[in-house]
Amino acid sequence: MRSFKMTEQELMEKAYEEIDRLKETVASDPHRLIYHLMPPVGLLNDPNGLIHYKGVYHVFYQWNPFDVGHGAKYWGHYTSKDLVHWREKPIALAPSEWYEKNGCYSGSAIEHDGKLFLFYTGNVKDEHDQRQTYQCMAVSSDGIHFEKKGPVIELPQGYTAHFRDPKVWKKDDMWYMILGAQTLSEQGAAVLFSSKDLYEWKHLGIIAGSGLNGLSEFGYMWECPDLFELDGKDVLLVSPQGLEPEGDLYNNVFQSGYFIGSLDYSAPAFQHGSFTELDRGFDFYAPQTMLDGKGRRIMYGWMGITDENEPFQPTVDHQWIHALTLPRELKLKNDKLIQQPVEELHLLRNQQVSILEAEISGDVVFEEVGGRSVELILNFKKHEAETFKISLRNNAALVYHAGSKQLILERKSFKDGTIEQRACHLDKLGKLQIFLDTSSIEVFVNDGEEVFTARYFPDVEDESISFYSNGKVVCDLEKWTIG
Ligand code: FRU
Repeated sequence: MRSFKMTEQELMEKAYEEIDRLKETVASDPHRLIYHLMPPVGLLNDPNGLIHYKGVYHVFYQWNPFDVGHGAKYWGHYTSKDLVHWREKPIALAPSEWYEKNGCYSGSAIEHDGKLFLFYTGNVKDEHDQRQTYQCMAVSSDGIHFEKKGPVIELPQGYTAHFRDPKVWKKDDMWYMILGAQTLSEQGAAVLFSSKDLYEWKHLGIIAGSGLNGLSEFGYMWECPDLFELDGKDVLLVSPQGLEPEGDLYNNVFQSGYFIGSLDYSAPAFQHGSFTELDRGFDFYAPQTMLDGKGRRIMYGWMGITDENEPFQPTVDHQWIHALTLPRELKLKNDKLIQQPVEELHLLRNQQVSILEAEISGDVVFEEVGGRSVELILNFKKHEAETFKISLRNNAALVYHAGSKQLILERKSFKDGTIEQRACHLDKLGKLQIFLDTSSIEVFVNDGEEVFTARYFPDVEDESISFYSNGKVVCDLEKWTIG
């Protein structure tokens, strides 16, 4: 049998042909988002390689151009000068080489000597369907065209081949890399490496994981770790797989969250506190951060998750699926990460509607407060209701119960239309900032104390936003049309 291997150029051309072939099918989808990053065709998952390089923001993403399911991933690429207006760039990586033939999996970017370096996982399935993993490097002088340097790390002893998603940073004169891993006893872990020159890497060992640092059983695999300093503390973001639901916690199939602590690079050892979930909604996974020129720590997440609902998202009929979240600035407040939409998003605001001291009691609709693509801010002044509810396009709702102090996001299941819920404990409802795009919801609660992210698929024509309260609620209400 003749084996046929395509060059990277050929693989890229094949993907461009696919974009071209399906562009009308994709563009005619009324659920296509207006101000979020999406794949031009096919499936998008994790944000990758986030970097502010020579004054330009780069967002790469996991991409399967040929299917609305997962497969041999490419790296798609967008750039922006302001985090709001984005340009689609040439494909950054296509899985052409032996060490990545089943996918250029997730990874990160750094700048060194004026060059942009990507680190990613080469995913390989051998002829017996056995997984192999290689941590690879690619370099670019213009931030657009990448030259692959091949594997820089092979799988060390002590782990299964679930070993991936390198995130690289510099501390003092040393480079560090953190990876997501599974130990031979099937425990999720975060593994640290160091390097002086980015080519030769030293395995320093596990710094956190299931059963370590005071954690009990905490997942069979940790994906997409990211470690960074914020206000003098070390923060480890990670996406563990295998946590069981506990009340309002861990209700999605996989989770994303963080530990705050202190990393002793010399041991190495990471002393940390408990795990906190980053998002309380249905669709959020594999977040990554970058430090920008203004010193902000900015996070993007995948506004999706690998679960049994993926094939039921209506966008698959239009040959695309998933999107990234809005960019969020991270801050630390009382040992908790606060997430706020970056201020540049104000550039998207149009047609402001302001209602001071809006009174809500019973069912209320405000003229001009509706739409498919809007930002809505409610600043609560008085809250005398047991139940307060905002209905979003008859397909989702936010409900606050003052008695149980619970904030709930409801949506209609993509699969069967039944109502599903995600909830969090909230002592006080002070402020809601809600971003609706045609088929997504992001809710920032009390200036980012909690965030709910979800896709939803309302009737295309439905622009209704309505309120209900069984007591008196007074708030200042602002609304903008977005985009
Ligand atoms: C997380 C993840 C990563 C992997 C990538 C493959 O969603 O499973 O661990 O690198 O997606 O697309």
